[in-house]
Amino acid sequence: MTLGSEWWRSAVIYQIYPRSFADGLRADGIGDLPGITSRLPSLVQLGVDAVWLSPFFTSPQKDAGYDVADYCDVDPLFGTLDDFDALERRIHELGLKLIVDLVPNHTSDQHEWFRAALASPEGSVERHHYMFRDGKGSAGELPPNNWESVFGGPAWTRIHDTDGSPGQWYLHLFDTSQPDLNWEDPWVHQRFHEILRFWLDRGVDGFRVDVAHGLKKAPGLPDYTPPVLADGTTAGSMGAVGPAVDDADPPTPPYWAQDSVHEVYREWNEILASYPGERVLCAEAWVEPLPKLARWVRPDEMHQAFNFSYLETPWDGAALRTIIDDSIAAFAGVGAPSTWVLSNHDVVRHATRLALTGDHPQGAGVGPLSTGIPDRAFGLHRARAATLLMLTLPGSAYLYQGEELGLPEVIDLPDAARQDPTWFRTKHERYGRDGCRVPIPWEADAPSFGFSTGAGGTKSWLPQPAYWREYSRDAQLGVAGSTLELYRAALHERAASALGLGGIEWLDGYPDDVVAFRNGAVTVIANTGTSSVTLPGLELLIASDASAALQLPPDTTAWLRS
Ligand code: NOJ
Repeated sequence: MTLGSEWWRSAVIYQIYPRSFADGLRADGIGDLPGITSRLPSLVQLGVDAVWLSPFFTSPQKDAGYDVADYCDVDPLFGTLDDFDALERRIHELGLKLIVDLVPNHTSDQHEWFRAALASPEGSVERHHYMFRDGKGSAGELPPNNWESVFGGPAWTRIHDTDGSPGQWYLHLFDTSQPDLNWEDPWVHQRFHEILRFWLDRGVDGFRVDVAHGLKKAPGLPDYTPPVLADGTTAGSMGAVGPAVDDADPPTPPYWAQDSVHEVYREWNEILASYPGERVLCAEAWVEPLPKLARWVRPDEMHQAFNFSYLETPWDGAALRTIIDDSIAAFAGVGAPSTWVLSNHDVVRHATRLALTGDHPQGAGVGPLSTGIPDRAFGLHRARAATLLMLTLPGSAYLYQGEELGLPEVIDLPDAARQDPTWFRTKHERYGRDGCRVPIPWEADAPSFGFSTGAGGTKSWLPQPAYWREYSRDAQLGVAGSTLELYRAALHERAASALGLGGIEWLDGYPDDVVAFRNGAVTVIANTGTSSVTLPGLELLIASDASAALQLPPDTTAWLRS
């Protein structure tokens, strides 16, 4: 590893989605903390620097754990706090860092704070912890404003008072089971300070902050209708701000990216800085354009922000050059590294997404009735090229579990298996995100492809397709040309050549659809076009396609020794 003094500036961070990684408890078909611990050596073998764990906290699992009922305990589904401590110890023994997920915009409706709010009268201290408002209409029968939930349907639900009569409404930007907290209330700030300290005291290296653009809402909660974009959609999967009418200055919805949200992160920054080691905050903020997103990583706020603008960039030479330049410039402007990401648990896996044709709005997912789905081999071919390009970029890169195996989105999940609230709240109009959450295939010949390791472990909470077999980790390990070996080779070279700490020097003389640059000792050529291009006469280090030699075929990336 060549991480430099602030490890997060160049780290490769691997996202584990606990319920889908490895089932080591009870063989119930749901992944858990002991399962993760047992599989950690595979991450060292892969060559990543850090692990980000999606939520494993006490939760009714209405949104796969992003509905937290106790921030300071482990859900029995995933194990115990002792299991967490064992996992954390092992991660650190292996020389990796550990980031956990923090979900501050909303709690579960089963959280004791919300239950207390429901049991307390209008205007009470307990109600003030959440966003309760009177309804409109003569009897308060209409929602307080026109906001829509990111998952579809209204963002407000009316409650019944303890005497059974219809009462106030509460805001939930996501599912009904995820009431938004009131970040105007200092009490909420205090509780989250305690939660941060709880996990920092246990030794975590940082937090990925969920919906980091959403905590504060505009005073008065005004009505808002998102502008319709050029492609006919209104907003991104997690409620992106734009790109709207004018990309340079998109309107700011009253529920996202309010200026006052930054106070929260300044408070958190101080808490993290009071701990030894380099503890970090990474913003999940769907904010565009990039200079606006960069406000989340000013020196006294967070350390990293996911670069979703990069994730959403099509496989197109000119677009890629622009987003790379813009990303580096925007983050450098505030002294932060750029991050790079192609997949996560909310988007169609990039082995499918980058080769989709037609309209596929982010967050809608793809399924059996979707059109424009690529052939799996073609999707993977392009994804390998895209990954190889991403891993040469200076800054920190995020990988999502299973992409190192080349996993595609699972298109043909049976309707009855789907669990994403998006699927239900849009009355099956949007497939949602289950297709990227199917459990990992570890061993080609084991039941549930080795996902469920306990005795009789044949289950998997989302069904794994039969063709998962050929993507299994053991079918790829040590096999020249496999996607796993491509990732291993790239991560090894990225570390050896300190690419994460380097810089980009564009190379001239290539067609517009070719992305060509030098990052220190490595020259990178990515061909997004439809004809082969001639490679310079340099030593070929790694190529995303084995046929690359003097000529670089379409949808292929090569690394050469500069
Ligand atoms: C973003 C998370 O990544 C997503 O999975 C979740 O549904 C929403 N935030 C709400 O917490």
